[in-house]
Amino acid sequence: MTIMISVAELSKNFVLHTQGGTVIPVFENLSLDVNAGECVCLHGPSGSGKSSLLRSLYANYKPTSGSISVAHEGGWVDLTKAEPYKIVEVRRQTVGYVSQFLRVIPRVPALEVVAEPAKLVGLPAQAAEEKAKSLLSRLNIPERLWSIAPATFSGGEQQRVNIARGFVRDYPVLLLDEPTASLDAANRQVVIELILEAKARGTAIVGIFHDAEVREAVADRLFEVMAFQRSAA
Ligand SMILES: Nc1ncnc2c1ncn2[C@@H]1O[C@H](COP(=O)(O)OP(=O)(O)OP(=O)(O)O)[C@@H](O)[C@H]1O
Ligand SMILES: [Mg+2]
Repeated sequence: MTIMISVAELSKNFVLHTQGGTVIPVFENLSLDVNAGECVCLHGPSGSGKSSLLRSLYANYKPTSGSISVAHEGGWVDLTKAEPYKIVEVRRQTVGYVSQFLRVIPRVPALEVVAEPAKLVGLPAQAAEEKAKSLLSRLNIPERLWSIAPATFSGGEQQRVNIARGFVRDYPVLLLDEPTASLDAANRQVVIELILEAKARGTAIVGIFHDAEVREAVADRLFEVMAFQRSAA
């Protein structure tokens, strides 16, 4: 077993500075190791902190205490303590993240949105675009949309562009926040296949999947993010 990501005694509070410093505890003392080739599904009721944990694993949120160690280029990086330049490097090389909604960049065509992460790690432009095209085809994005910026795409189309972007590189670690939430059954099946292929290549995956069918197809185990930890705090 090769551990790719190791979370130790992680806690997160939000402090609402605009509301008299009210402290909202979200999760407490979470510990989790994820191995290469394994898919761990974050599980728990709405509001229990699943997305907040996933955002912390991408260093979008800064945890209150604990550590998040990621295997990066032969060493370990603790994302709770890493300098911004190191976080940029980890995101470029090691950790991919498919957020629930595509952050649309104006005027950048869908094909370029998808190909960009592969170009950033040095794949020649043509190879990156070929990979992007093959993913857009598999995800049933019609070719006439490839040269258009996704701002005007439907919710499901935007989500599929987002998924293609997350799979254009073989990231060692991949974080997925409800990647199939607004997809039809056929496209859900494509996403299941992409996840299974990534696992077979050795990608360590942490995901949130509300859809039980997707969860059963891809998850090796569930990790409970429990609401009682909040009310107990
Ligand atoms: N940036 C933030 N500032 C303040 N509170 C936040 C912030 N982000 C999340 N929270 C709070 O943290 C708690 C957990 O939210 P989170 O989005 O992580 O839940 P979730 O488990 O992903 O829920 P769902 O299943 O509905 O997506 C919620 O009570 C939410 O209001
Ligand atoms: Mg969520």
